[in-house]
Amino acid sequence: MKRFVVIGHRASTTGDFKLDDIAGGAGRLDILVRCVNASLFLSHGIRRDVEVYLVLEGGDDAPKTVIFRGETVRYLNPDERSTASLIRNALMKPLEDREVLASPGVSVVRRSLEQVLEELTRDSKLIYLREDGTDCRGYEFPENPVFVMGDDRDPTEEEERIFESHDPDRINLGPKSLHANHCIVVVHNEMDRREASS
Ligand SMILES: C[S@@+](CC[C@H](N)C(=O)[O-])C[C@H]1O[C@@H](n2cnc3c(N)ncnc32)[C@H](O)[C@@H]1O
Repeated sequence: MKRFVVIGHRASTTGDFKLDDIAGGAGRLDILVRCVNASLFLSHGIRRDVEVYLVLEGGDDAPKTVIFRGETVRYLNPDERSTASLIRNALMKPLEDREVLASPGVSVVRRSLEQVLEELTRDSKLIYLREDGTDCRGYEFPENPVFVMGDDRDPTEEEERIFESHDPDRINLGPKSLHANHCIVVVHNEMDRREASS
């Protein structure tokens, strides 16, 4: 399993936004939607061995985490509007203590970045995508990697302290600063190449 954790620093947690305004009123939810697309879509299929954790930190009901699981996801289409609609439906679900299934393969849970990473790194290595990390070309990707990255903003000092407590590997994906969704595409490509040649 490959997991991508994306921090939505001001992404809506209430679902109280218009689908025409995901880049504005929804707190740059457009970036997270593109990350879902980059994580899960192949040209003619879905990457079933991938999960995406959108840690939403904006609005009055933070934190919440929306989870897309490639293994079971349905009704996911490549356009941003319909993915935003799946997220909005999840955010409108009344939350209990545990994860709530909003639609097939899409869940929502009251969990912070710290809680998400605590759970995911129990038996997996955390990999922090950073412009000043080690070059990914010489990097040996571990089994079941957990990648974490910012949205249009880098992680805050507090978020970096949380990463540090998990002793992450830090890798860079090349000499230029990339959009978060483009980072995911590059990571997939690097891992696809290694898998194809092994
Ligand atoms: C759009 S960037 C954040 C803002 C960016 N640092 C800037 O100054 O414009 C989104 C995230 O993608 C990741 N990232 C971007 N470029 C990268 C690269 N070349 N190598 C590894 N991670 C990268 C980092 O996690 C970053 O927080």
